[in-house]
Amino acid sequence: MAGYLGRVRSQMYDRIIRVNHAGELGADRIYFGQMLALRRKYPEKAAVIQKMWDQEKAHLDKFEYLAGKHRARKSVLVPIWQFGAFGLGFIPALLGPNAAMAVTEAVEKVIVEHYDSQLRELMADDPKVNEDMIKTISQFRDDEQHHHDCALEHDAKLAPGYQLLSSAVENICKVAVKVAEKI
Ligand SMILES: [Fe+2]
Ligand SMILES: [Fe+2]
Repeated sequence: MAGYLGRVRSQMYDRIIRVNHAGELGADRIYFGQMLALRRKYPEKAAVIQKMWDQEKAHLDKFEYLAGKHRARKSVLVPIWQFGAFGLGFIPALLGPNAAMAVTEAVEKVIVEHYDSQLRELMADDPKVNEDMIKTISQFRDDEQHHHDCALEHDAKLAPGYQLLSSAVENICKVAVKVAEKI
């Protein structure tokens, strides 16, 4: 029984770590792309983005560490997540900081929902056994919520083509999450 439960739980950790590692790697590349596009022309917005970026780097480091600790298999699509996320950061940011903030708002909205659903799953499995992972994910969830709110405060909604941009980004992120959980 314990063997079976242990196996099911280790599959859950494998999936959770793989998708979160891919997601945090993507977040790191998004902010890198935004900085590249905005740093020179918009130093004040770049300072705001830099703060969020620094937190993403810490998130990524943690999931790098957890992938080693739990021997989780990383996504085979890591190069695609890196390249795609860079484009998602860089290209809309060429339209200006509001478009960059609209991307951030949409991405973080999906990630907060994603982390919330993992937290529900971990609680339902065993809050005590999963305590460390729950702590990590809830802290990151709060950071992502803060990034989301920060993007709204920095005029995400004033981006050109806001509705189209934000629903496109949301859909891309939802598909990426589904894929990165599996492969
Ligand atoms: Fe993050
Ligand atoms: Fe974030």
